[in-house]
Amino acid sequence: MDQGGRAGFAATAVCSVSDTPPSLLVCINRNSSAYQPVTTNRVLCVNVTSDQHRTLSQLFGGKTPVDERFAAASWSMLETKSPVLEGALESFDCRIRDIFVSGSHDILVCDVVALKERSEGASLIYFNRAYHAL
Ligand SMILES: Cc1cc2nc3c(=O)[nH]c(=O)nc-3n(C[C@H](O)[C@H](O)[C@H](O)COP(=O)(O)O)c2cc1C
Repeated sequence: MDQGGRAGFAATAVCSVSDTPPSLLVCINRNSSAYQPVTTNRVLCVNVTSDQHRTLSQLFGGKTPVDERFAAASWSMLETKSPVLEGALESFDCRIRDIFVSGSHDILVCDVVALKERSEGASLIYFNRAYHAL
């Protein structure tokens, strides 16, 4: 939500890197509408979706205009002012430390600077081109 503007996308290409320092990585397509805002702001929040977020995930994973994506849920902020999803199972507020180019995607290595406590609920997973509760 800084000078690069607000952006968000559904992502499965997210995983942990290390616990010291707490860090994770996100792979982002350079053709994504979120690419310029995220790499300009150099901050992001990874919101782990619950099975209540199927429709929301479809919006963020489709070609919906960015304002409509954000209008479909409630948001707050932690340290970096990145959008923290209400009801997410976990939110990792991050500053991007390193960016590695790989094929069509950039790999964003991110330091986790704040966490929102875990909510109750089943996790939303994407498998065999469909959403499932886990
Ligand atoms: C289940 C699912 C997982 C996705 N995972 C990623 C991902 O890890 N990285 C990525 O750059 N895009 C991923 N996408 C695509 C983005 O969400 C993409 O931004 C979205 O299709 C909208 O494109 P746009 O923001 O350029 O309009 C995924 C889409 C879906 C539906």
